[in-house]
Amino acid sequence: MAKRRKIYEGKAKILYEGPEPGTLIQYFKDDATAFNNEKRAVLDGKGVLNNRISEFVMMQLNAIGLPTHFLKRLNMREQLIREVEIIPLEVICRNVAAGSISKRLGIEEGTQLPRSIIEFCYKKDELGDPLVSEEHITAFNWATNQEIDDIIAMTLRINDFLTGLFAGVSIKLVDFKVEYGRLYEGDMVRTVLADEISPDSCRLWDMATGEKLDKDRFRRDLGGVTDAYAEVARRLGIIKEKSGAEILSFSGK
Ligand code: TMP
Ligand code: ASP
Repeated sequence: MAKRRKIYEGKAKILYEGPEPGTLIQYFKDDATAFNNEKRAVLDGKGVLNNRISEFVMMQLNAIGLPTHFLKRLNMREQLIREVEIIPLEVICRNVAAGSISKRLGIEEGTQLPRSIIEFCYKKDELGDPLVSEEHITAFNWATNQEIDDIIAMTLRINDFLTGLFAGVSIKLVDFKVEYGRLYEGDMVRTVLADEISPDSCRLWDMATGEKLDKDRFRRDLGGVTDAYAEVARRLGIIKEKSGAEILSFSGK
């Protein structure tokens, strides 16, 4: 294949120039990082699984009229997406306390929250993506009030939809992180879901056993990271077996 122009390389994905103006190719790497790059590993097959899981989720969201950047999956590691201007926020939605909210507010992990809570972090690796309020976001022009309203409404819709989707396969959606972009269409600009939704960016607990099926397996050295991601894919009907052979057979570059 002809050498493509790399637009951006992040910790888990690479963006290449797309085949047509206004499109990009999103490539899923096997690299895993945690705690802002302090901890690193290459997990064979993770990129393939995240590509498939994120494709599945984005297609389901497109189908309920939630606008996303996703166009189509191209191969095992790549998907065609619309080019958007990323809004520099990590938008977290929580249903059950875990991770940083448990530490920050002293709430035991696993505690059901009184209602779904949305948090915003400013996307800035050098600062470790600090938690910010809507006041910061509008004062520093990271997003407008209208965009914040759209982001909150879309994130709550995603939460309701994904909570049901995962509950259907006996998985509890504890929390997740999403990112949004500005899609320019002529004179119009629309806020659309961007980035990925995968076990890298969600907390997913088995409803029966409480077993973690997400990136906390890596963060907390629990082992079996890609096996857990494959289990999520298998339950959603994306792959048939969770055998190592199948995961390796589609982990080709
Ligand atoms: P936290 O509890 O560490 O703040 O994480 C909340 C959710 O956001 C969890 O599902 C993991 C996800 N997340 C990311 O996708 N990227 C990140 O950089 C961080 C810190 C969390
Ligand atoms: N993705 C972030 C990092 O690389 C943090 C995390 O997911 O825990 O450091």
